[in-house]
Amino acid sequence: MLLLFSMLLAWSDVPLAAFDGTAGTARQWITVNDPVMGGGSDSSFSVVREERIGRWAGEVKIVRSLGAPGFCTARTAGDALFRNVTGSTHLGLSLKGGSGLPAADFSLQVGVKGVTTMQTLYQAQLGGEYCCADDCRVPWSAFRPSFRGRPIKGPPLADHLGALSQLGLGTAGTAGRFSLDISSLYATRDASRPRGCARDEPVRAPPGAEAAEEASPHMNAGLAYHVANALPGHELSPRGFARTSEHFTLYSPPIRSRYAGVVWRVLPPVPLPVEVVQRYNGSAMAVTGFEVDVVRRPAGGDVSVPNYQSYNHHYTAHLLGAGMRLPASAARQSFHGLPAGYVQPVLSPAPAGTPADKATHTVTSHFQLRDMLAEDCDSLGDEYCASARVAEARGGKVRLIMAGGHCHSPACLSLQLRDRDTGELLCEVTPRRGKSDAAWDEAGYLWLPPCQWGSAEEGLRPPPVLGLDANLTAIKVANATEYHFGVMGIWQMRGAYGDGDGDVGPRAA
Ligand SMILES: *[C@@H]1O[C@H](CO)[C@@H](O)[C@H](O)[C@H]1NC(C)=O
Ligand SMILES: *[C@@H]1O[C@H](CO)[C@@H](O)[C@H](O)[C@H]1NC(C)=O
Ligand SMILES: *[C@@H]1O[C@H](CO)[C@@H](O)[C@H](O)[C@H]1NC(C)=O
Ligand SMILES: *[C@@H]1O[C@H](CO)[C@@H](O)[C@H](O)[C@H]1NC(C)=O
Repeated sequence: MLLLFSMLLAWSDVPLAAFDGTAGTARQWITVNDPVMGGGSDSSFSVVREERIGRWAGEVKIVRSLGAPGFCTARTAGDALFRNVTGSTHLGLSLKGGSGLPAADFSLQVGVKGVTTMQTLYQAQLGGEYCCADDCRVPWSAFRPSFRGRPIKGPPLADHLGALSQLGLGTAGTAGRFSLDISSLYATRDASRPRGCARDEPVRAPPGAEAAEEASPHMNAGLAYHVANALPGHELSPRGFARTSEHFTLYSPPIRSRYAGVVWRVLPPVPLPVEVVQRYNGSAMAVTGFEVDVVRRPAGGDVSVPNYQSYNHHYTAHLLGAGMRLPASAARQSFHGLPAGYVQPVLSPAPAGTPADKATHTVTSHFQLRDMLAEDCDSLGDEYCASARVAEARGGKVRLIMAGGHCHSPACLSLQLRDRDTGELLCEVTPRRGKSDAAWDEAGYLWLPPCQWGSAEEGLRPPPVLGLDANLTAIKVANATEYHFGVMGIWQMRGAYGDGDGDVGPRAA
């Protein structure tokens, strides 16, 4: 088994449709143009063997009755299934040379056996955010079921990557001649595009939940990341990385374990991709997030390993710059360090006579925000550094950015973080219970959506500003009927120094 970090390169791309003789990728292509709707546009598709391309060329014309440009499409014929590309995150399109029309005038179209029909398809518009020169990569999540180009309701395409039966391209809305030389359409897990393009593009601000979803590609495709405290209306907005960010993937060395064995060791270091090292040689790299999966790698792609086969209680990844060495203390333990006197648990077992299905067991502890910080530490050398000294220098205030409540399966029912001075409930985490045998939904395991604060545009509440002397209370409720040996209830938080009034500082932990 391997730990897979998305910081995306190693899932090898799967060619779906190509013109170079790759096994299973040759298809017959057909065109459908607007004369079916009374227009006059025309296009044709031909395979140019010596150049290993499919050439789709034609002209979009104004449909007289509408006074607007019509459409041309080119699609694979037949409904034979393409390879199962479950686990991939993007559909890639590789072209040769320009087209005569802007990328944004083309769409990618996908048919799914048993889901789409002659009239319906999944469609995603191309554009600068997905395309760089001759290379486009469109997240499966950007495809919307559509009926003659208009969105309709339907299941996410990412749930049907085993049953793709049709691939195609369309252009509509701009009149003019075009000619597109297509090398291949392929499934990939690599959202990164050739260097240089990403930063040249304008960043589109996501206007709402729909856009947040569009702007949120992530590695663990099909998984909905939610936060526990989103603004009303945004509770189910998926969370991910900005589309303008770039990704790379790292695989850990294989992790071998015995049945019921505990693996508690540091794996050998893994070098970052050479191009990443070179690009950031001598400069800072802003890592804005990372995702992890534990996978097996049978031929054809990664398969997530369910928790009941390899339960991964903790992993810790250190991303080290050229001048750093892994600190010795990081080699054996994960850090649960609590300042002396931090926890004063108040246990509240269920009163005698409580019916079993109502019986709970509550642990409460009181502490101050200052207890969550070290008196002083070196934020450059110590990744866990959150310094009370620096916070004092910024007016003794901290803004909360994230609070993750941590508790254990199966007994945990809820975790609350309260501000005792104001009575405010800062965060409440209700575990999501797994219901099946599927990886990421394992019965008997819990997922703990965190609280995150940010901007209204992101569907998030503004960060609470707390003084170092804020009095906080953590309340953890467990099911008293479920077997538990001990009780786990901690809050792991991230914040920023200062009250945010013109203040941008290093993070506090
Ligand atoms: C595609 O592969 C996934 C995972 O490997 C599997 O769960 C799914 O059943 C497959 N789908 C089809 C239609 O074969
Ligand atoms: C980083 O840049 C320096 C100076 O140009 C060069 O000597 C060194 O080999 C580079 N290191 C890597 C890992 O590319
Ligand atoms: C505790 O778990 C049991 C199953 O083990 C369930 O029947 C009961 O309803 C749960 N109690 C609460 C308070 O959720
Ligand atoms: C927290 O409690 C202490 C002791 O009761 C008190 O002195 C302090 O003012 C409280 N903090 C706030 C922000 O009210």
